[in-house]
Amino acid sequence: MGLIKPTNIGTDIFKAAEFLRNNETVAIPTETVYGLAANALNEEAVAKIFEVKNRPFFDPLIVHIKNVSQISLYARDVPNLALQLAEEFWPGPLTLVLKKQGIVPDLVTSGGDTVALRMPNNEMTLELLNKLDFPLAAPSANPFTYVSPTSAAHVLDQLDGKIPYILDGGNCQVGIESTIVRVLEDTIEILRPGGISEDALRDFLPDVNVVEFQEITSSPISAPGQLEHHYSPFCKLYPAEIYSQLNVSIDAVIYWSKDSKKKSNSTMEAFYLTEDGNFLEGSKNLFALLRRLDKENFNNVLFEWAPNENLGVAINDRLKRASAKRVSIIKD
Ligand code: TXA
Ligand code: MG
Repeated sequence: MGLIKPTNIGTDIFKAAEFLRNNETVAIPTETVYGLAANALNEEAVAKIFEVKNRPFFDPLIVHIKNVSQISLYARDVPNLALQLAEEFWPGPLTLVLKKQGIVPDLVTSGGDTVALRMPNNEMTLELLNKLDFPLAAPSANPFTYVSPTSAAHVLDQLDGKIPYILDGGNCQVGIESTIVRVLEDTIEILRPGGISEDALRDFLPDVNVVEFQEITSSPISAPGQLEHHYSPFCKLYPAEIYSQLNVSIDAVIYWSKDSKKKSNSTMEAFYLTEDGNFLEGSKNLFALLRRLDKENFNNVLFEWAPNENLGVAINDRLKRASAKRVSIIKD
């Protein structure tokens, strides 16, 4: 490792499978974001993920599986509730944290006794999983703490020369990561808001206790990877409500929709996460827009929060983390 090798982009599922069988890493499309995949049952392969991403070993990985019946291969004492959730929301952006089976290497779970499982909703990646006789450990395919990639080009921008192959499945349709839930006998706890909203979970399970996602500072242990400054672009993001306290010159504003009340003046470029406030459109556009701001060298960007409901909760979580360093600088 460490040597520069050519990175190819293509749609060849056989080729992707071959690299993975040889314990290499391959970037794969999912409906949420692109993942950096390797054989989840092979420590040598999994170690390469951490190396490529520059990711600390204390941050565990999600294991991607091909169907609901594989849950019991990698998790034990699986509550009925977990199976109900998987039947309803898989393939899809919901990750279940369950007690792990011994076959899952410690490197994948950061030594913990739970494993995060998900069946992604992407045709190519499901076909790939069906060709393999092992599941795929895959974090988002970006350097640690940067914005997650939602296209093959995003992956190439940062991992060129570090991985052999990017399986190109086009643009991700959800655009933000999966919702992560810990599932107990009669309770589910939301560890990370994501592509399945809390409302969707409650609607499906009206009689089950759904423990709301806790703010960043209050649950550092349950979601080890939920660092405050995750998803940070290079440009500095500031929530619109602190505009009057800023003494920097703002060069762009991200509005939630075209109906938003304008805060910009002629020296600021205006961007819109959505045309008319559609949540899925907003989540699909968010990371691509943050990357574009970096590419176009914007420095100080004001943003408007999404309405805090539906997928807006996850969008706001990502905006909060992307701007976290800036907000704490202001507070000090
Ligand atoms: O949508 C997604 O979930 C994407 C795609 C590629 O599937 N993956 C993704 O992976 O977002 P990553 O590694 O960027 O984020 C996974 C999060 C981390 O914050 C990690 O701490 C948490 O999942 N996680 C993994 N295993 C866990 C476990 N056993 N218990 C609690 N949190 C866990
Ligand atoms: Mg990530």
